[in-house]
Amino acid sequence: MQEKIKQLLEEVNAFQVSIEDDLESFKRKFTNKKGEINQLFGEFKALPGDQKKLVGQTLNQLKTRATERLNEFQASLKAQSVSSDRPHDLTLPGDAHVQGARHPLTTVLNRIVSIFERLGFTVAEGPEIEDDWHNFSALNFPDNHPARDMQDTFFVQRNPDYLLRTHTSSVQVRVMEDSEPPIKVLSPGRVYRNEAISARAHCFFHQVEGLVIDKGISFADMKQTLQYFSSEIFGDQARIKLRPSYFPFTEISAEMDVYWGLETEDDYRITKGTGWVEIMGCGMVDPNVLRNCGIDPEVYSGYAFGMGVERIAQLLYRVPDLRLYSQNDIRFLKQFERIG
Ligand code: DAH
Repeated sequence: MQEKIKQLLEEVNAFQVSIEDDLESFKRKFTNKKGEINQLFGEFKALPGDQKKLVGQTLNQLKTRATERLNEFQASLKAQSVSSDRPHDLTLPGDAHVQGARHPLTTVLNRIVSIFERLGFTVAEGPEIEDDWHNFSALNFPDNHPARDMQDTFFVQRNPDYLLRTHTSSVQVRVMEDSEPPIKVLSPGRVYRNEAISARAHCFFHQVEGLVIDKGISFADMKQTLQYFSSEIFGDQARIKLRPSYFPFTEISAEMDVYWGLETEDDYRITKGTGWVEIMGCGMVDPNVLRNCGIDPEVYSGYAFGMGVERIAQLLYRVPDLRLYSQNDIRFLKQFERIG
């Protein structure tokens, strides 16, 4: 019996509780009426008188020790629950707060929009899944134009009448169909082209389209607006150049370059050795397009332009590879404007 008492004493001393359930098993095993200690007291009664004194002493020690342990366990569980109930411990160190950064394309897009808003433009958005009419036909693309080719455009597989818009010029058509001049809108958005992805090309990117229609609008109005935009976004010294070009939906058409300079090796690479970079297409809206959209070209004229947001961000932030914009690499993203 002494052996059994010694063994139980060791178990009582080694017992650990971390949750309420452990406390219950301790009671069940040792201190309850049906627990092992009480059982020993039962057996104790049957012992011969000469052993009773010694065994009784150790048995009582075991019982006292078990009660002590029970009190300790109860106290520590109580302390635990008090500390987790307390909502705020102002003395604890704070959690590290990871600060986000705004995506460079968002920052540049917001800047572009706010510059044109100052000139009275409002924002009009259109769907990314478009039909042939809004993306091509209304914009005076001939039926056999290469842009309509599967090679260049993503068509919706189940219904090839629909496609992913290849430019935000489609929104021009929607705006002209739905409203009366004077019109002065800006249409930012994502566009898609079937291109192999590389440092210089991607299958999706962002454009901002502008459209101004009113009586007596001329090429000079357009040039003035674009000069203002360029000096706002690139700085007062910005120089622009309009080069004759061709788009089915404008007549006359131009491409606009900004002067970038030729100071570093990078400048040579970016400007292909010319010092100039193209940042948008523009022109006077073709009378056929006005007519397609229900606007009388004898009464109204207007200009339109479309620029690539990635390209402008690339110039402003010196981003060497277009793929960086969509890879979600935190090392790239955290270099930009902090939020908050
Ligand atoms: N849609 C043309 C493109 O994606 C850009 C463009 C050129 C838009 C001339 C225009 C414009 O509004 O007048 O390359």
